[in-house]
Amino acid sequence: MNILVTGGAGFIGSHTLIELYKAGHTALVVDNLYNSNPEALRRVAEIIGVPEIPFIKADIRDREALEDIFSAHRFDACIHFAGLKAVGESVAKPLEYYENNMNGTFVLLDVMRHHGCKNIIFSSSATVYGDPAIIPITEECPKGQCTNPYGQTKSMLEQVMIDLQKADPEWNLVLLRYFNPIGAHPSGRIGENPNGIPNNLMPYITQVAVGKRERLGVFGNDYPTPDGTGVRDYIHVVDLASAHVAALKAIERKQGLAIYNIGTGHGYSVLEVVNAFIRVNKVDIPYQIMPRRAGDIAICYCNPEKAVKELGWKAQFGIDEMCRDAWNWQKNNPNGY
Ligand code: NAD
Ligand code: WQD
Repeated sequence: MNILVTGGAGFIGSHTLIELYKAGHTALVVDNLYNSNPEALRRVAEIIGVPEIPFIKADIRDREALEDIFSAHRFDACIHFAGLKAVGESVAKPLEYYENNMNGTFVLLDVMRHHGCKNIIFSSSATVYGDPAIIPITEECPKGQCTNPYGQTKSMLEQVMIDLQKADPEWNLVLLRYFNPIGAHPSGRIGENPNGIPNNLMPYITQVAVGKRERLGVFGNDYPTPDGTGVRDYIHVVDLASAHVAALKAIERKQGLAIYNIGTGHGYSVLEVVNAFIRVNKVDIPYQIMPRRAGDIAICYCNPEKAVKELGWKAQFGIDEMCRDAWNWQKNNPNGY
């Protein structure tokens, strides 16, 4: 298939391009490079062994630009990664987050419809479950109260697309609810490249390991978990990338609406991740227990059986590979791209 990949220069998009090409698909990337670097696409091309990845620098809110792109190319489906994703920043800049994520998706969907491309895979998030009512979380678990504008945009956009698919069953819509993607491509050539102080656990750990930060703050050790620190379902970004290739099957089958949790089904605490990183990479990670972070929940991990059964997709990598590959990327690229 020929796939439009919005936000394809970003962390998950760049890894997904590799899996798409490996599976025989082709892609065109649209990204405004707000949170990414075109060097990522150059390296993706190098890993795949093609001269370049077709890329157009454009903002998906720019209707004219999208119209031109759809007039010049034929797409079988869109994988829609483009969006702003920093939880803390979304609390400080709600209008920017709502405007970019909602409006960008509205324009994209409208232009897709106009050009008769009604197949989309959307990057959703475990955040839509809020503080989950069921652990492990199944797709039947009711959506919860999101504590930040970023999460609200994911939850609302899911609903917008569900309503659109209901109104026009020609749409094939796959909502992938990612758990906690970490790690990097095993080549060490592409990986996560956060601006400023990392918000997320693994990039913070790797920046401590490489000497950019003094110590990790562990946000709370009084949660009702075995060691008191928060438990999450970390998933290797290469596994997450391959889930998108598998999700294209739901589109090929014209499945209508399909929702999948994309995680490993295993929960690891903050200290388990830190200790795995130290053991696998033989580097020290000084840490300090800090107060809880506002908006955090105690435990979040999924039941990934639905994706296993319906898509034939299952995570292949464990926490050791996640720690190995995250460190391989960071130590070879201490300043990112
Ligand atoms: P990322 O920031 O690395 O990638 C997003 C890309 O979208 C960036 O390259 C950015 O420049 C681009 N972009 C943003 N707004 C745009 C616009 N208006 N027009 C064109 N391009 C635009 O983030 P990521 O980690 O790769 O996440 C990809 C998607 O997955 C996002 O939608 C994110 O919300 C979602 N997601 C991420 C995680 C995570 O932990 N990384 C978890 C769940 C869901
Ligand atoms: C993981 C655990 C922290 C940093 C976020 C978004 C979610 C999704 C994935 C996009 C928690 C602890 C963290 C640190 C720490 N993104 N921690 N010290 O919060 O589970 O999910 O990213 O959709 O929407 O909310 O991930 O990596 O920030 O935190 O102790 O410096 O690590 O408290 O228990 P989170 P995270």
